[in-house]
Amino acid sequence: MSIRHTVEVGGATPYAITIGPGLLDEGDHLAHRIRGIHVLIVSDDNVAPLYAQRVEAELRASRPDALLARFVMPAGEHEKTLARFGEALDALAKLGATRDACVLALGGGVVGDLAGFAAACWMRGIDVVQVPTTLLAMVDSSVGGKTAVDLPAGKNLVGAFHPPRAVVADTRALRTLPDRELRAGLAEVVKYGAIFDAGFLAWLDANADALLARDDAALAEAITRSCRFKAEVVARDPLEHGDRALLNFGHTFGHAIETEQGYAGTRGDGLNHGEAVAVGMVLAARLSAALGRAPLSDAERLQALLQRLGLPTALPAGLAPEQLLARMRLDKKAHAGGIRLVLWDGAGRAKLVTGVDDDAILELLQPATNRM
Ligand code: NAD
Ligand code: GLY
Repeated sequence: MSIRHTVEVGGATPYAITIGPGLLDEGDHLAHRIRGIHVLIVSDDNVAPLYAQRVEAELRASRPDALLARFVMPAGEHEKTLARFGEALDALAKLGATRDACVLALGGGVVGDLAGFAAACWMRGIDVVQVPTTLLAMVDSSVGGKTAVDLPAGKNLVGAFHPPRAVVADTRALRTLPDRELRAGLAEVVKYGAIFDAGFLAWLDANADALLARDDAALAEAITRSCRFKAEVVARDPLEHGDRALLNFGHTFGHAIETEQGYAGTRGDGLNHGEAVAVGMVLAARLSAALGRAPLSDAERLQALLQRLGLPTALPAGLAPEQLLARMRLDKKAHAGGIRLVLWDGAGRAKLVTGVDDDAILELLQPATNRM
């Protein structure tokens, strides 16, 4: 039985997220999303050898008129740079991409963010079709139109809102995903439960083994439910003027960790994005408890679930609390008035909070406090 789900994202620029096994082998499905003839497939050097040729063959069969080109960047967060972004634009120029051209982002969140930003900027905006190949990209980064590259000073500091024309998530691609990256994606899945729905946290707890074993039905359900949460928020708040900011639960801490570690996660000597978010969510939950907003037992349950999913939940050694705090001040969510944190009033009830005392944050970031 084929498992196929569609989630519609509403708002001013509606689009569909299609989720299911085998979508990459359906050239028509991708081809229908392409308006002009120029298609730049952006991918990385792990994903392209696995999937790019197949996607190109399918597109050629469905759209013999299409002019296809490939831009393959080295994999990794440390490659999500202005320099690689410039190379993607050069590839569009070489292809002769016109206003109706399409960027097809084939990869994880790094490829999706960079390719989406190139599409946002080329001729002031062309289509991007997101074809996510990591769990994290399927449940989060491919949806909602945030695109960006990193600077040494901070994560995602240069970017644009540029919603995709479509999202096509072939769950079969998850079969080649390394275990570590599957777990990183589960961190963002847990995030939706933590901010919106304690019942979803309970479902994840009950289905943790099936998810880790890559059970098709469990993964498809987790992805679809996550996309529904995200679709609802981004439709009503596409530019993050309101409650879209709740999606950043754990991210102010997580981004500070990633930046302090020099985006070393995918090279193996630091936390990757999902892992940093897992640690950040536990810190945010513990801070909420320390401020008397939420029961400590909820933070402990969240931590236990993340640990069960094989995710780190304590700050890595060697990070100075003052340095992390300084990074948090440059986070995109910070205002002139100071750091804005997503805290919670208990499982499933996140709130945007300003004016948290620096000392309370520093206390939490002390190695002795967060070693759990
Ligand atoms: P990633 O893109 O670095 O992918 C992780 C690793 O898996 C890479 O080495 C990649 O080459 C490899 N890979 C990808 N698909 C594979 C497959 N099917 N088989 C084998 N290997 C595969 O990381 P990610 O976790 O997908 O994305 C993290 C990025 O997403 C971060 O830059 C983060 O800031 C961004 N992000 C953006 C948003 C947004 O709303 N735009 C939301 C969340 C995260
Ligand atoms: N990942 C946070 C957002 O899309 O808003």
